[in-house]
Amino acid sequence: MHCMNTLKIIHVSCAVISYTLFFLRGIWILNKSAIIRQRWVAIAPHIVDTLLLSSAIALAFTIHQYPLVHAWLTAKFFALLLYIGLGSFALKQAKNNASRILAWLAAQAVFAYIVLVAINHNPLPF
Ligand code: HEM
Repeated sequence: MHCMNTLKIIHVSCAVISYTLFFLRGIWILNKSAIIRQRWVAIAPHIVDTLLLSSAIALAFTIHQYPLVHAWLTAKFFALLLYIGLGSFALKQAKNNASRILAWLAAQAVFAYIVLVAINHNPLPF
């Protein structure tokens, strides 16, 4: 890990919480759990994801590196769009469990890719 300033601690914490909420919401839908209908479950992801993105933008300005300028942040940016698309399909649009599970797993693979890109500052971190 690179050195951790306050902004990065916020960013990484939001990333962990965002992933956890996404993972759990998938489980709760598949289980037909009543938890999914609790109000906080609908609200918390918006707050966390807004903080995650705000801290991302603030971090980009502090290190003077930007999506569409630096390859690793460009990769992170497009991977984030893919993660949002797959995530939204898995939690909302999916009409059956097979496609839901496939999109849910693919979203998690994309999330893992984003973390590897972040740690290595490299769009091809494998
Ligand atoms: C799901 C979305 C995201 C996840 C999981 C994530 C994860 C991470 C992690 C784990 C780090 C710490 C890396 C380290 O210091 O070792 C980090 C740093 C960073 N992220 Fe993100 N991030 C996400 C979205 C974004 C986006 C969209 C941007 C685009 C602006 C961004 C910009 C940054 C910047 C600039 C740093 C600081 C790098 C440094 O100081 O060396 N992040 N991110």
